[in-house]
Amino acid sequence: MTADTATVITGIAELTTNTDEWGTLGTAALVVEGDRVRWVGPESRAPQADRRIDIGGRAMLPGWVDSHTHMVFAGDRTAEFGARMAGRPYSAGGILTTVDATRSAPDSELAATLRRLRDEALRQGTTCVETKTGYGLTVADERRCAALAAEVADEVTFLGAHTVPRDTTADDYTDLVCGPMLDAVAEYVGWIDVFCETGAFDAEQSGRVLAAGRARGLGLRVHGNQLGPGDGVRLAVDHGAASVDHCTYLTDDDIGALAGSSTIATLLPACDLSTRQPLAPARRLLDAGARIALATNANPGSSYTTSMAFCVAIAVLRMKLSVAEAVWAATAGGALALGRDLDAEGAVGVLRPGSRADLHVLDAPSAVHLAYRPGVPLTWAVWRHGDLVVCPPEIR
Ligand code: NIG
Repeated sequence: MTADTATVITGIAELTTNTDEWGTLGTAALVVEGDRVRWVGPESRAPQADRRIDIGGRAMLPGWVDSHTHMVFAGDRTAEFGARMAGRPYSAGGILTTVDATRSAPDSELAATLRRLRDEALRQGTTCVETKTGYGLTVADERRCAALAAEVADEVTFLGAHTVPRDTTADDYTDLVCGPMLDAVAEYVGWIDVFCETGAFDAEQSGRVLAAGRARGLGLRVHGNQLGPGDGVRLAVDHGAASVDHCTYLTDDDIGALAGSSTIATLLPACDLSTRQPLAPARRLLDAGARIALATNANPGSSYTTSMAFCVAIAVLRMKLSVAEAVWAATAGGALALGRDLDAEGAVGVLRPGSRADLHVLDAPSAVHLAYRPGVPLTWAVWRHGDLVVCPPEIR
């Protein structure tokens, strides 16, 4: 460790590491050097370093990994939300409202919204974020949305197959997505996704999208089982997708398929609440042996929040997860949904020597407070890539 760059952080009342070695550690310390964690352990054994920061008996956890957002958009859907709260059901048809606004918006406006939401998430402890295209739906608009996303997000997903535009058929549009549109976005994206749902893309069309993405070397993910039972989970598992997202309506067969696979079930509780759907069956998934992630699904239609803490609180208070399970799902689970190896150098979602120094300190002595004090902004300090990006006056 080089003395001029290493910082030892002490006064950690509870350290969530998500590692087998330490699990959750009381009275801990951690050393940051450059953009990496270099040492983790009991405070009594902490090494010397150039700088020492005492966080005063607060809880530290890995930064949130938000593995599902749609932050590249323009426009507003407040009226649609208000109508829904007055009793109108959610339908994915509202996506086209945002498509119209996004196509009309200049790059500068899209970039400003993207950065605003990214910064809003960071201030709440989200240090790794995925975002998607999907509100352009022309070759040119999907390409510019992908290029803008690539400037800001840790991971970018091509979701040209978000919905079928007004002027075409699902089959013709699927051909466009799998051909010229994929060619146009490929340099900016690492993932491909498809909304496999009644009214969007059927299993055959969705399978074509995934196969085209795989042929281009992209990782696979699927939006599935959001608005009713369907083929999304089965399709994702059969294609070896990294994740299937939503999973609100699952049969026992779907749960069994996920449990026997490496596909992560990414649950989006803020979306389920904002669309007045049932909450996804998190407890049944975990009890069956499936692995889950929690994500915000930040978008202007079905889930306009960047708060991972809100998702964790819902998961604990209403989905029967323990705090430890929910925190794991919002950190390590999100990393797995993004295809990240938790043991790799520079890993996110875990805190151990060699992991990325993405640290989230709560203004509370334990992570239990995330559910015990729901709705309270508990983020106190955040390090991202080793930089102290949210800094309270006490440690300035
Ligand atoms: O994940 N399911 C499809 N896509 C988004 C909805 C976006 C919207 O309503 O604009 C989702 O919920």
